[in-house]
Amino acid sequence: MQTTDIILNAARQRLETAGVETSSYELRLLLGEAMGLEVAQLLLPQPVSKTAEAEFNRMLELRCHHMPADKIIGRRGFYKYEFVVDSNVLSPRPDTEILLEKALEYARRDNYKKVLELGVGSGCVVCSLLAELPQLRAVGIDISASALKVAHANAQRLNVAAALELRQADWFDADFMALAGSGYDMVVSNPPYIAASEIAGLDSEVKDYDPRPALDGGADGLASYRQIAAWMPQLLQDGGIAVLEVGEGQAAAVAEIFSEQGLRRLETAVDLNGVERCISLKK
Ligand SMILES: C[S@@+](CC[C@H](N)C(=O)[O-])C[C@H]1O[C@@H](n2cnc3c(N)ncnc32)[C@H](O)[C@@H]1O
Repeated sequence: MQTTDIILNAARQRLETAGVETSSYELRLLLGEAMGLEVAQLLLPQPVSKTAEAEFNRMLELRCHHMPADKIIGRRGFYKYEFVVDSNVLSPRPDTEILLEKALEYARRDNYKKVLELGVGSGCVVCSLLAELPQLRAVGIDISASALKVAHANAQRLNVAAALELRQADWFDADFMALAGSGYDMVVSNPPYIAASEIAGLDSEVKDYDPRPALDGGADGLASYRQIAAWMPQLLQDGGIAVLEVGEGQAAAVAEIFSEQGLRRLETAVDLNGVERCISLKK
């Protein structure tokens, strides 16, 4: 029987040969998954059964094809919670935690009752909001029926399904407002914001494993912001707040798009890397 240290070393070399960047944490996560153990339980060498080794090799093969570890094991941590993920949803990113933190700050300060998330994906943002704020009710919209299934599974996992209404709708459709509702205290969104021409140059982990509708922001990356901005005066009640994730270098352009619809920028917040990542605007 092989031991964990030997198996982990061989795995590191195999991924290096395949040109895949990895980390000790990621390798332990995958091996732990194969052995039914937590990452912290793998700090000291121990024997690995043949069955667990075969399962680890299966997962390593996927990782050699650049599949991200969270898509391999089907779960990803975000903020304080763990979410199920699959090929139909964007893997929740640490960069998005600032969007959630800002939304939480406004919702707590003004005791919000009713919020909307545009583009729920896995549901990591709206489900975290609801898990933190028992008084809150939310509507979550996505164009993808498969993403909405994942968001529903996550709402059940976090015990917030009763407070969340999920609706399939496309913000580019003329009758979007009939499905979206109005009078919200806050609208939160992390829309697709990568310029279509830049997608081919992204890492395989992103372009091949995150769904295209979660990435593609049209010719200049700003198409979804323009469309969402056009609906915002009808979605928000007077004094309501929009909290938006933006791509690197987009904050000023997005603020300008929303100011043309009468929304005033309140603040811009940076992510863990110091990049302007989240803007808040008031109707
Ligand atoms: C960048 S992902 C964000 C997912 C999740 N909120 C997060 O932060 O991890 C954007 C989401 O918007 C959805 N979306 C893209 N275009 C849309 C449209 N026209 N109407 C409704 N949803 C759309 C995608 O399916 C995707 O789930």
